[in-house]
Amino acid sequence: MQHIEQYQKDFLNYLESFAIDREPKNLYQPINYILKLGGKRLRPVLTLMTTEVFGVKAETSMDAALSIEVFHNFSLVHDDIMDDAPLRRGQKTVHKKWDLNTGILSGDAMLILAYQLFENYEPNTFQALAKLFSKTAIEVCEGQQYDIDFETRNDVTISEYLKMIEYKTAVLVGAAMKMGAIVAKASVEDQNAIYDFGRYLGIAFQLQDDYLDAFGNPESFGKQVGGDILENKKTYLVLKTLELGSQNEQSRLLQIMSSNLVTNDEKVSSVKELFNNSGASEANQNAVKGYTSRAFKVLEALNVSEDKKQLLRLFGEQLMNRRV
Ligand code: IPE
Ligand code: IPE
Ligand code: MG
Ligand code: MG
Ligand code: MG
Repeated sequence: MQHIEQYQKDFLNYLESFAIDREPKNLYQPINYILKLGGKRLRPVLTLMTTEVFGVKAETSMDAALSIEVFHNFSLVHDDIMDDAPLRRGQKTVHKKWDLNTGILSGDAMLILAYQLFENYEPNTFQALAKLFSKTAIEVCEGQQYDIDFETRNDVTISEYLKMIEYKTAVLVGAAMKMGAIVAKASVEDQNAIYDFGRYLGIAFQLQDDYLDAFGNPESFGKQVGGDILENKKTYLVLKTLELGSQNEQSRLLQIMSSNLVTNDEKVSSVKELFNNSGASEANQNAVKGYTSRAFKVLEALNVSEDKKQLLRLFGEQLMNRRV
């Protein structure tokens, strides 16, 4: 097994060769732009690592890893339109740098390019990868729709929220790992265990993303601070404030969320204060730890050596403590 940084380097080299220099420029330039904008590359690294965990060379899953990263970036281009987000990885989002139509069509093309990459595998592997990909992609759409529907609801439950983030984010992390296992021809039990490991990590990852959206450093996090608050996203932080906060804190949060009399900065800072004072911030961070431990529990049943499990745990711990 290699270090996490080595997988990242190998992946970035491969990504270089994927740059598309074709007409029409206005379709392909935004694709190259978003793919080269940086990002943690955590999903492709997980695909490559998983292949090696199951005893096969990482390079065999390079196209699956690339497919996952292209799909992820497609979902970000469309997500930024839906969330009205101006910044991504510290730079302009595609629909702000170009326009809405460019964001829609370049995103569509990326979704297709992601699928096409599976053609590089032999028929059995191709079929297994394409089947998992289709199931995952439709779940991501369902999760994204729940996320949007919840913006205008005030009665969202914690379990609805958890299902929403499982679909919009966690299943892709699970699928990234399962694809690595499929390419390595791991047993079905191991494929499912590694999927669950990724899925739990993915839930922890989205909880941490929601936390950083409010409390992260905009320089390093690279997104507009408080974007979720401004969009009335029903995050764990909001739902826990409505559960743990005093009567007064609960009604203040509902009032701020429905009012358009305050400036954006005032809205973000008052809501953050409520998150902290109500105990919601702490509850959020406990949930991040809780889902990370659940992921680690799944590892126990996996048929691989202890040093490989240790590498996966290290990855999980780094994600839990991330600031970017
Ligand atoms: C952002 O994903 C979208 C979420 C699921 C929270 P990442 O935080 O992995 O984004 P990049 O690729 O590193 O920029
Ligand atoms: C990400 O949710 C889910 C997908 C992109 C599918 P967010 O909306 O929280 O992601 P960021 O914060 O914009 O990266
Ligand atoms: Mg978003
Ligand atoms: Mg979103
Ligand atoms: Mg977010």
